[in-house]
Amino acid sequence: MKYKVGVLGATGMVGQKFVQLLANHPWFKITTLMASERRVGKKYGDEVDWIVSSDVPKDVRDIEMSPMDPKYCDADIVFSALPSDVAREVEPKFAKEGFVVASNASAYRMEEDVPLVIPEVNPDHLQLIDVQKRNRGWDGFIVTNPNCTTIMLTITLKPLMDLKLKSVRVATMQALSGAGYPGVPSLAIVDNIIPFIKGEEEKVESEPLKILGRLEGGKVIPADLEISASCHRVPVIDGHLEAVWARFDGNVSVEDVIDAFDSLKPLDLPTSPEKVIVVRSEVDRPQPRLDRDTGNGMSVVVGRLKKVKDNEVRYLVLGHNTVRGAAGASILNAELMIKEGYISQA
Ligand SMILES: NC(=O)c1ccc[n+]([C@@H]2O[C@H](COP(=O)([O-])OP(=O)(O)OC[C@H]3O[C@@H](n4cnc5c(N)ncnc54)[C@H](OP(=O)(O)O)[C@@H]3O)[C@@H](O)[C@H]2O)c1
Repeated sequence: MKYKVGVLGATGMVGQKFVQLLANHPWFKITTLMASERRVGKKYGDEVDWIVSSDVPKDVRDIEMSPMDPKYCDADIVFSALPSDVAREVEPKFAKEGFVVASNASAYRMEEDVPLVIPEVNPDHLQLIDVQKRNRGWDGFIVTNPNCTTIMLTITLKPLMDLKLKSVRVATMQALSGAGYPGVPSLAIVDNIIPFIKGEEEKVESEPLKILGRLEGGKVIPADLEISASCHRVPVIDGHLEAVWARFDGNVSVEDVIDAFDSLKPLDLPTSPEKVIVVRSEVDRPQPRLDRDTGNGMSVVVGRLKKVKDNEVRYLVLGHNTVRGAAGASILNAELMIKEGYISQA
């Protein structure tokens, strides 16, 4: 029997991606959709400004939108695509009532007892679930996935840690869908690049340290790594591109880096891509339009590797920000939690 799932913030950019990916999922069935109060009692298909594909999936069009209250939610897992300030209030209410909350929001990512997980990178951090339940006395729990820009970067940093990675500089070119819907006004972004995204550099500089950190005595000891980020919004619909300078403690070749990327293996889960990091050798790849759907949007694509110093390699990494960077990331976390026995059916 499929697990029943709900979506918080189902009408937004990430919420729509959740609905699209969950509509045909082998393990999950959407039962409850929630957004702001004005939608309550209305049909999802009539309320949503659907922009992620040509049609709202048939099975969800007639679902009546529920109030954002655990007592109206008929689900085993709740996926959250709420703005952070709303998530801070709402997610604990669901966790307290026994729901598993798989969240995209930043509200709880950096809390000590909340797992911040990328399944291929730090699956062991799910052990924090027991700490969280003990600390907070909740029947359910919150598990988060990183910020969309952090995910692509950290997937590539994980295998580089074994090559004694010391510091990272990253410059991002981030897609418009990363700003939600309706997001950035067209007159601000057409023929333009906006060199500031509120809070983004801080997230990219701090979240990877927790994800790459080591779990010890019920706590994460952050990775010993320096990260400096410069983040920019560009007129691309989907797909964040990031230029990364990785500096090591010792001499490292491009071949070492490619071998390390190849060593990161996919998991045996429905949303896992066949290859986690795809390395392209063409001089002009990766490109958002051509490469964002690699592995159904769940692979990250690397290219333009170059040794810039004895101990420094530069590369580009691209990932689909609303799939690998958001909805797909939460769904993969939920699949992992099921596989690891953290979720049972009501
Ligand atoms: N976009 C990305 O690539 C991305 C990537 C990673 C993480 N995230 C995170 O995911 C979350 C959602 O982002 P998004 O881009 O999907 O935003 P969005 O397009 O603005 O969607 C926000 C959703 O939250 C609902 N909402 C807003 N205020 C609410 C309130 N007071 N009460 C109840 N529901 C409310 C909206 O419902 P209505 O339609 O009814 O107003 C909508 O469904 C954010 O925390 C964001 O930081 C986004």
